[in-house]
Amino acid sequence: MNAPNQLTSPFDTLQLERLPRDNSHTLRAWDAADEYLLQYLHEHFNETQQPLIFNDNFGALSLSLHQQNPTTINDSFVSQQATLTNQQINQLDTNIQQLDSVSALPPAPLAIIKLPKNTRYFEFQLQMLNHYLPAGTPVAIGAMVKYLSSNFFKLFEQHLENTTTTLAKKKARLLLGFTRGGAKKPTLAIARQQPETGLTVFDTPNVFAAGKLDQGSRFFLQHFPDLSDTESAIDLGCGNGLLGLTALKKHPQLHMSFVDESCHAIYATRCAVKAMDVAERATLQQNHCLQGFEKHSVDAVLCNPPFHQQQAVGIQIARQMFRDSARVLKPSGKLYIIGNRHLGYHLELKKHFKQVKTLASDKKFVLWAAHS
Ligand SMILES: C[S@@+](CC[C@H](N)C(=O)[O-])C[C@H]1O[C@@H](n2cnc3c(N)ncnc32)[C@H](O)[C@@H]1O
Repeated sequence: MNAPNQLTSPFDTLQLERLPRDNSHTLRAWDAADEYLLQYLHEHFNETQQPLIFNDNFGALSLSLHQQNPTTINDSFVSQQATLTNQQINQLDTNIQQLDSVSALPPAPLAIIKLPKNTRYFEFQLQMLNHYLPAGTPVAIGAMVKYLSSNFFKLFEQHLENTTTTLAKKKARLLLGFTRGGAKKPTLAIARQQPETGLTVFDTPNVFAAGKLDQGSRFFLQHFPDLSDTESAIDLGCGNGLLGLTALKKHPQLHMSFVDESCHAIYATRCAVKAMDVAERATLQQNHCLQGFEKHSVDAVLCNPPFHQQQAVGIQIARQMFRDSARVLKPSGKLYIIGNRHLGYHLELKKHFKQVKTLASDKKFVLWAAHS
């Protein structure tokens, strides 16, 4: 029987950690779709050098295939960091290239995709493959059956040719096909007027709430805090940037740092900052929470935290955001945080802040202000 963090595949045996670490050991850093993909790749592409690997959450695929010198493409900063951490844990002297999710793809004889969470981003990745790789390049997609909606199937059949699917194994399936080639480069950011804020926001394929306004963000906007005495603030987990942009619009004295772990979120926010002409009052950073931010350096943090990490539900990231905010805020600073009532964030906030006040609430949401 394997140790809980040990992935054994036909390629290698690896010790793999999630990031942030999950001490409960209820979640592993890979799933049966990764195992199925590795078995298939060993049988059919054992010698193939320099494949592209998309959406490898914690490095299970790219580190197992390290001898094939893969390029791994990730929208998630946390996934990139997890891959590096796991590379160090396993002392692998490898040549894995890490690429972000907006750059041109290098030539490759094979593309491996771990199904992403959203269909827009899946379609974008298939379009990128058809733009950058020649027709006939094999594509192997691994997915857990519970996430494979009919929309994913439609896109798979629309953008690839000679498609087949495998039988399910441990509730995972593989979708196999070949690029059609000859596609236009897909559009990365589309401008949209947001009537609720009067802002021009930008939708990128993997940004949170593309094409709509999240209900939690709407509630936050309806009860937006007064930041007139605030010089510096952070929009933590900024998505398309609407909270930070709203603050910049209302308060001309303010400087805003936009932080998100998603490259598509930072790209979308950068487009909006440019459209609003506030670049001199904004900095943007792809980061895991507030890593590297100085202690006691900002006046306010605005946050609508995630309660998913990729497909896994949980508040580990929100917890890290609270901890980091408590460290980075000045003693007089405040964290403004919106959450679903049932998540009970106030209990978690009280571990890090002396005062936790409800600013507004309804049946579904609560907006808190926390300070030391
Ligand atoms: C609920 S969305 C909120 C987006 C936006 N602020 C809004 O209100 O519409 C949470 C955001 O947190 C980002 N996020 C998730 N994990 C993160 C992490 N570890 N560090 C920074 N941002 C993260 C997600 O990419 C997502 O954009």
